[in-house]
Amino acid sequence: MTAQTHDKVIILDFGSQVTQLIARRVRESGVYCELLPFSTPLTDIRARAPKAIILSGGPASVTEKDSPRIPKGLLDMGVPVLGICYGLQAMCDELGGKVETSDKREFGRAAIQLDDSKLFSGVLKKEVWMSHGDSVTALPPGFSAIARTNTCPYAAIADEKRKFYGVQFHPEVVHTPDGARMLKNFLLNIAGCRADWTMAAFRDEIIAKIREQVGKGRVICGVSGGVDSTVVAALLHEAVGDRLTCIFVDTGLMRHNEAAEVVGLFRDHFNIPLIHEDAGALFLDRLADVDDPEQKRKIIGKTFIDVFTGAEKKAGEAEFLAQGTLYPDVIESVSPHGGPAVTIKSHHNVGGMPKDVKFKIVEPLRMLFKDEVRALGRELGIPEKFIGRHPFPGPGLAIRIPGAVTAEKVSILQKADAIFIEELHKNNLYNETWQAFAVLLPVKTVGVMGDGRTYDHVLALRAVTSVDGMTADFAALPHDFLGHVAARIVNEVRGINRVVYDITSKPPGTIEWE
Ligand code: XMP
Repeated sequence: MTAQTHDKVIILDFGSQVTQLIARRVRESGVYCELLPFSTPLTDIRARAPKAIILSGGPASVTEKDSPRIPKGLLDMGVPVLGICYGLQAMCDELGGKVETSDKREFGRAAIQLDDSKLFSGVLKKEVWMSHGDSVTALPPGFSAIARTNTCPYAAIADEKRKFYGVQFHPEVVHTPDGARMLKNFLLNIAGCRADWTMAAFRDEIIAKIREQVGKGRVICGVSGGVDSTVVAALLHEAVGDRLTCIFVDTGLMRHNEAAEVVGLFRDHFNIPLIHEDAGALFLDRLADVDDPEQKRKIIGKTFIDVFTGAEKKAGEAEFLAQGTLYPDVIESVSPHGGPAVTIKSHHNVGGMPKDVKFKIVEPLRMLFKDEVRALGRELGIPEKFIGRHPFPGPGLAIRIPGAVTAEKVSILQKADAIFIEELHKNNLYNETWQAFAVLLPVKTVGVMGDGRTYDHVLALRAVTSVDGMTADFAALPHDFLGHVAARIVNEVRGINRVVYDITSKPPGTIEWE
């Protein structure tokens, strides 16, 4: 699925850690783009009719024989090209310039002197982020330098006639304050792309595409209350109306009141047909006395599928299954040394659906990043509460109750967690954290309340900041805030008499406790 009506930019990935950032900056400037591995055959690139091409950075060195190269013929397509770092070096090498390995790597901020070039129009902050070992030492014919730093005479180069540009620095990172402006200049002023990639336009387009794919067919969509599945369901409903049935497997392991909110959103707010499988008792029954985390995950995964499969039958005959796959799951990532491209999959897919050959798959979010999914959700009128909600694991509270899970423990944890989350909202800290939750520990400690001695559970609070959940820092929540939350929990939730705060980052810790 691609957005044919938009001008399209291709980003060729040479393995940089920040290639996805380039894609996001491009889309933020209103231009649609796709990310492809550097090894993509030229015919595939041509078939996409790109209006501009960006070559990403990468960890390899063009001075090595087997390092990644620009696809043969790419630079003859007559399409404007911007090379970033390794991309610039690969372009130079290809066009007859010279690239050499210097003895020291240049890494960090650098002041830059800019010539009068279209690439720099409106750029005010003369500061860039450098991260390279190799440098261009001789320019290819037709090129000239358009920017330099103290250590790098070819910090940016151009062959304005062919519209080939190269920057040794990284315009896509925030440490290059006017980098987004430079990218926009390249896309709009140099390559002439139209800035018409908006969520409103995408919504109309995607709805038309879904209708084309589904025809008169029926669609099933699993929903969890998470933003991705909610957006998928809302889109599908606009596209095919009542030929969509949503299935909500309620594990009984969700946050306080969450199941009721999901049902309310679908039935009342959107009026989407929803099968609510209230399977809490079954999940608890199968989890009884199980305390190994992986075992819990397996049981929950299997039970989820059993319940979902049962619900499918109630939904009637459907040919299609809608899924909330996002672009980062689709992009083929390039291994650092230009080796074979591999698809990196999340290691957490519990609660996801097995590949079911019975269904044809509809994946309307395949081309979107998470922040774009949120923007689309707003466009579709999904309440902010669902859009900005922290991520929640498929196995739910079962992995936040180390040891055996019981109905009583789930209920205690839900109450404590709800207080923490409510206070985060009240104190404008919810959006400052990436994920925050409570963990009910299988440890009892002594306390005093009033005149009596208590012997109750310890509760751990966990809050982290993160970009993608792969790494995370513990959130530095104010002490008085934490003290207030702890006091409320101990006073209001029976069964907890002590609260601790987890100050471990990831790595070495994980975000969840199990
Ligand atoms: P960890 O604990 O590995 O978590 O640092 C990273 C992110 O993944 C979520 N998570 C899961 N999500 N099924 C899921 O759907 C799981 O089994 C699972 N385990 C962890 C976690 O909440 C965090 O956002």
